[in-house]
Amino acid sequence: MTQPTDVKRVAVLGAGTIGASWAGWFLSRGMTVDVWDPRPEAADYVRRYVAEAWPAMSRLGMAADASPNAWHFHTAPEAAVAAADFVQENAPERLPVKRDLFARIDKALRPDAILASSTSGLIMSEMQDGFESAPRFAVGHPFNPPHLIPLVEVVGGRQTAAETIAWCIDFYRHIGKKPIHIRKEAAGHLANRLQAALWREAVSAVVTGLASVEDVDTAISAGPGLRWAAMGPHMTFHLGGGEGGMDHMLQQFRPVFESWWATMSTPTLSDENCRQIIEGVRAEAQGRSIAELSAERDAILLPLLELVARRG
Ligand SMILES: NC(=O)c1ccc[n+]([C@@H]2O[C@H](COP(=O)([O-])OP(=O)(O)OC[C@H]3O[C@@H](n4cnc5c(N)ncnc54)[C@H](O)[C@@H]3O)[C@@H](O)[C@H]2O)c1
Repeated sequence: MTQPTDVKRVAVLGAGTIGASWAGWFLSRGMTVDVWDPRPEAADYVRRYVAEAWPAMSRLGMAADASPNAWHFHTAPEAAVAAADFVQENAPERLPVKRDLFARIDKALRPDAILASSTSGLIMSEMQDGFESAPRFAVGHPFNPPHLIPLVEVVGGRQTAAETIAWCIDFYRHIGKKPIHIRKEAAGHLANRLQAALWREAVSAVVTGLASVEDVDTAISAGPGLRWAAMGPHMTFHLGGGEGGMDHMLQQFRPVFESWWATMSTPTLSDENCRQIIEGVRAEAQGRSIAELSAERDAILLPLLELVARRG
């Protein structure tokens, strides 16, 4: 098995939103990238994506030998994975699609290659079942866009070898990501479950008339969201307890939080509720395109990421 610090060649299977971004990040680390996607237009998409992402990745620091052109587009997944030390799979989020792809590459993978799936929430035990290479399969779930956001959730399935998990954690850390090991399989892994829990309350607030979509968003982006980039919810509340830390915070707020939790409920995503959310977001966007909104987000995100990278 190639040492995680010696990986030179990686394959990216599925080159849409997530695959193209991963390809960019691997290139910025000085690696050679073999890309496969069933859409022939995906080659142009990757070229454009990498060119647009290159300045941001340069700001975050890249390998001295990194080249935006060190990638090849293949017409079959078997050919794309043949020489790869590591494979990042980014096919559409449907179990049969992932399993069909794994069936095609199972025997084409190098016998020591590791494969990580970007799946947002599928269960690895179900994805890997029946494949020879299953012990070398794990989830390596990034956040959009993977070339900027550091978090990668590593999850093993029933047949994943412990060495595969350790290898993935070392590899992602080596390429400048922030991997965490999710110790059990759960639909949505961990971070998406946390996002879903918050969004459940955000949707509930809108459909019960507590606040507008825009005000709910401000409640996070101008409030706790700012602190969450520095530290997570537990450590944030440790500070919320003042000198007494989490002990004092729990003493004071334990019954309060329990009483709030008791009032929370799960909204439905009915057509009417969806319409309210869509109209609210449109009003909040005030005509700005997705590209303009992304640029606004990145103007804040990039300096923040530079700061985090400088602090190690
Ligand atoms: N979009 C996100 O925010 C996000 C974040 C983290 C993880 N993910 C995960 O990444 C994966 C890809 O999602 P995406 O958002 O990039 O989707 P996407 O629709 O943007 O891209 C999917 C790509 O896969 C290609 N494709 C179609 N059939 C395929 C097949 N049989 N095998 C391989 N590729 C095929 C498509 O041509 C397309 O280019 C999913 O598992 C998703 O859950 C998505």
